[in-house]
Amino acid sequence: MKNIILFASGGGSNAQRIMDYFGQRQGYQVSALFTNNPNAGAIAIAGKHNVPSIIFTKEELTNGSVLAKVKSYSPDIIVLAGFLWKFPADIIREYPQKVINIHPALLPAYGGKGMYGLNVHRAVHENQEKESGITIHYVDDNYDEGNVIFQKAIAIEECLSPEEVALKVLTLEHEHFPKVIEELLK
Ligand code: GAR
Repeated sequence: MKNIILFASGGGSNAQRIMDYFGQRQGYQVSALFTNNPNAGAIAIAGKHNVPSIIFTKEELTNGSVLAKVKSYSPDIIVLAGFLWKFPADIIREYPQKVINIHPALLPAYGGKGMYGLNVHRAVHENQEKESGITIHYVDDNYDEGNVIFQKAIAIEECLSPEEVALKVLTLEHEHFPKVIEELLK
């Protein structure tokens, strides 16, 4: 059995997609959802899938207690699905090439500190980009700089607002993220 653990901070639509996708596949399980946000949408979704949720503080993330909990699930992959805090070096060191993130733009463009969620799409829209897309990459010590695993572009010329760009990009995330995770676990 391949164990997937998720880190999410917000609405949790990617977390939901991943739990739905692997809920229907033999040989894979989402073993835990880790979140910094007691109000994260992903907590209720995890409950429906009988996946335990672990809520933690910034201190617990950096003092080794989250690492200890992560280890207790023996993850084969650690997936950041809309996780908005910097990921700690101790977990990255313990799981080299096993921590992956999804970013809602074509990195290295529109990455770095502060570039998350709608901020990214606002910047893309203001610059009147003709395309945006998604990047799935390994996580290293710097925001959005790890090696790219997968990218997919999408035309956004017809989008009239950052929200419209966000919706198009999110749909692309939902389509590809679970499949890329599955490929990496094969
Ligand atoms: C997603 O668009 C994801 O790419 C982005 O947050 C959103 C979370 O949506 N992540 C980042 O911006 C990371 N820098 P969700 O909670 O509905 O899955």
